[in-house]
Amino acid sequence: MKIFENALLKKYNTFGLNYKSDYLFHIETEAEAVSIFKVTIPCEKPVMILGGGSNILFLSDFKGTILYPEIDGINIENTDTQNGYVTISAGAGVNWDAFVEWTVNKGFGGLENLSLIPGKVGATPIQNIGAYGVEVKDLITQVRTISTEDGTFRIFDNNQCEFAYRNSIFKNVLKSKYLVTRVFYKLSTDSILNLSYGSLKDEVSNIGDINLKNVRQAVINIRKRKLPDPEIIGNAGSFFKNPVIKSSLGSHFKNRFPDIPVYPDRDGYVKLASGWLIDNCEWKGIRRGDAGVHEKQALVLVNYGNATGKEIFDLSEEIRNSVSTKFGIELEREVEIAGTI
Ligand code: EPU
Repeated sequence: MKIFENALLKKYNTFGLNYKSDYLFHIETEAEAVSIFKVTIPCEKPVMILGGGSNILFLSDFKGTILYPEIDGINIENTDTQNGYVTISAGAGVNWDAFVEWTVNKGFGGLENLSLIPGKVGATPIQNIGAYGVEVKDLITQVRTISTEDGTFRIFDNNQCEFAYRNSIFKNVLKSKYLVTRVFYKLSTDSILNLSYGSLKDEVSNIGDINLKNVRQAVINIRKRKLPDPEIIGNAGSFFKNPVIKSSLGSHFKNRFPDIPVYPDRDGYVKLASGWLIDNCEWKGIRRGDAGVHEKQALVLVNYGNATGKEIFDLSEEIRNSVSTKFGIELEREVEIAGTI
């Protein structure tokens, strides 16, 4: 375990915000996590678990201890060639995209549409990350965790994770109660590809054959065109969730705004695109100091360099208010807020 005091958080959050944490512990093994939660190793409270920091907006310095899991390793747990499946586990600290690349190179399908999403394996079940027609909940079989209250191990099966759109039990009733150490994914050894999302199929065809590697490359191409690279411009991907509304209200919007994207959702409901709503309120490319709305994707807020968390937060509230005024829809944040103003 590595322990840092007065740790600078700039490289621990993809907004690139320059706050500090009283303490920061790099946790390399499950045993280290157990010793913290059993209080064999004491630490200053409150405790916060941070993954890749790709979905968090710090508003201030953190007064307490940040735990940063770096648990490593990718294992092939079992292969069921007869039925065309393989179960792979990855440590919470494994870089997500490096893991996706590994699976694609091995010829294991399922995660390719989730290429290039920033962050680490440990955050994928918490957030139920998704992109281009795939949500990680469809691939996760088990999540191995340690209780932050007493240091005991607990395995959550898929159905116990209560997955929903960008949501899970780990973000709700069990928030901060468990530290994820490993995630198990059921992947396919046959080529079952999901090309349902808009332009994905065309993008793959432009590259060549329709296969795993080309789907991954197509997703990378689309993301690179639309989304800012956090290494270059600080951001946390989509700032808001896409709102789910009653189908009848969706039809009303479709009549009033014929080009509004409306996607099917669970029975009786449809999903709108927050990016479109924000864009329609003419926010794209708007800048308030170093806080801004990305010029190619209105759902992404960016830090051009020296924005503060409060400036980004205030901009997001302005956006929420204008969408509420124009459409009567209250956008919900996807990004987590840490600290206070
Ligand atoms: N749109 C606009 N203007 C904009 C942005 C979008 O008109 O500024 C329109 C697009 O033309 C399209 C629709 O809105 O018709 C949807 O846009 P897009 O396909 O870019 O996807 P999204 O709904 O904005 C979601 C996820 C992304 C994911 C993409 C692709 C959420 C909150 N966001 O975005 O996930 O990559 O779909 O599947 O669900 C993330 O969660 O951080 C993230 C980037």
